[in-house]
Amino acid sequence: MYEFKDFYRNTVQLSFDDHPFSQAPKHVWVICRYQNQWLLTNHQDRGYEFPGGKVEPFENAEEAALREVKEETGAAVKKLTYIGQYKVLGREKVIIKNIYFAEIDKIEKQETYYETKGPVLLNSLPGDIAKNRKYSFIMKDSVLQISLEKLKKDGMIE
Ligand code: GTP
Repeated sequence: MYEFKDFYRNTVQLSFDDHPFSQAPKHVWVICRYQNQWLLTNHQDRGYEFPGGKVEPFENAEEAALREVKEETGAAVKKLTYIGQYKVLGREKVIIKNIYFAEIDKIEKQETYYETKGPVLLNSLPGDIAKNRKYSFIMKDSVLQISLEKLKKDGMIE
């Protein structure tokens, strides 16, 4: 298990075990890959981030992952793989998120992208995300870097 502080100095625990913190987490985060590019969304308040959000009462975490990717980017997922889970010990509450890797099939224009400005495709992720104001705070802690290393190690990305 990894432990570190996030952008707001909250403690984060990260693990690539099988659902170490909760069998039914209430949040999901989806690292998306489309034709050798990263697919992110541009959140209206937070900025660039991989899509994700809350699991609604009528769905499970995988369904939430597919729905959030579609809503925030217009993308259809070809293959969704569970990677791990992280827990944020916030001031007011504790949140637990599943991390997924998604291979994207196609991206279709949407009528609305909900609270985001829609899809953002990037050839590479910049090295200065931690201090880049365009990027969301959820991209600014070690969850991103350690997850990318895990994906590389498992041969899911180059
Ligand atoms: P509402 O219930 O709609 O009010 O949402 P909320 O504003 O309380 O946010 P949410 O429940 O999604 O998250 C609560 C807090 O957890 C946020 O204010 C963040 O500090 C923290 N948080 C949420 N997602 C992440 C994440 O991916 N990474 C990190 N480091 N913190 C997160």
